[in-house]
Amino acid sequence: MKLSLILVLGLFLFASCVVEKQPFREGKILGGKQVSAATLNLGYTTYVEYCIQCHGMDGKGNGPSAKGLLPPPRNLTQGLYKFPWVPYGELPHDEDFARIIRHGLNGSAMLKWDISDERLDAVIQYIKTYAPQTWEGKDKVLGTKFELPKDPFGDTYEHIAIEKGRKVYHVTAACTQCHRAYATREEVQGWAKEAGADIDTTAADYFQLKSQDGEYNYKILPPDFTYHPLRSITDVQSIVQRLMYGVTGSGMPGWKDVVADDELWALAYYVKHLQETGANLTERNKLMDKLGGSQ
Ligand code: HEC
Ligand code: HEC
Repeated sequence: MKLSLILVLGLFLFASCVVEKQPFREGKILGGKQVSAATLNLGYTTYVEYCIQCHGMDGKGNGPSAKGLLPPPRNLTQGLYKFPWVPYGELPHDEDFARIIRHGLNGSAMLKWDISDERLDAVIQYIKTYAPQTWEGKDKVLGTKFELPKDPFGDTYEHIAIEKGRKVYHVTAACTQCHRAYATREEVQGWAKEAGADIDTTAADYFQLKSQDGEYNYKILPPDFTYHPLRSITDVQSIVQRLMYGVTGSGMPGWKDVVADDELWALAYYVKHLQETGANLTERNKLMDKLGGSQ
């Protein structure tokens, strides 16, 4: 009798110690959704196990492994996220975080994480607690999701898409404001004339990447599509998604309704074509030699 009382008491003390170490005693409303304390606590232990070395105990992106990383790990207290599929600055859905965490961000220290679905959901809820201003409260609304427009080209007309994308990239959308040019000044002037557009191709940095200030406290260089890995890109469709929404806080705007839907797809096929050109050294050298004459 006495022994069992001690055991029960011991168990109680042990349990309260464990609970003491966990940061959450109550659930929270995050992004308009009730999240239980148990989920947040599982998220916390998952974070400590997998994420803390880069994102840090206080979520500021300053963990012990963060030193010297470029891009640096995200400061999760800012509540700004670059790669969800929602318009610039709007709140990501859980499926966005799941995609980012499961696929990782190519060319950065943010790898793919193979954790159970339960832990994945828990860690997603937990990281939101670092940015209460963004997530907490009943009035928070998640971002708009655009329907993916139909691909008007498909494999059969890919070459037509690439030709169109080349012109939209250099003339209609002038992506060269930040990204580099991949056509000679003469070619671009020819296309501009065709379209009745006025494009300045004289800038000294026309063939260079223009670094952007962004909102993350470090300069962000737009990628060279023939050279750099693209963070959130896996196929043409994911390029269209990225173009529709932009990259929040980096300067890269969203293009939905700025260019027509078929132009979005044309741009995406063109970006993919540039990636493929970059993957083939002979092809890349050929392109760079041609541009060299125009620089
Ligand atoms: C080895 C370092 C490292 C580890 C470990 C790590 N991350 Fe990251 N994480 C990064 C870097 C670097 C970035 C920024 C990439 C960029 O800006 O292109 C990032 C970005 C993010 C983002 C922002 C995504 C966006 O759209 O802006 C989230 C969310 C995130 N990480 C969550 C996690 C979670 C959850 C874990 C643990 C399961 C984790 N990270 C583990 C390095 C790391
Ligand atoms: C105002 C500057 C700016 C303009 C204009 C701009 N971009 Fe970007 N873009 C950026 C920056 C900066 C990044 C890098 C974002 C990062 O990784 O933080 C980027 C990244 C990208 C990416 C890679 C996304 C990823 O997942 O890594 C693609 C694709 C892209 N831009 C395509 C385009 C296209 C096509 C256009 C024209 C329709 C365009 N951009 C116009 C600044 C710009």
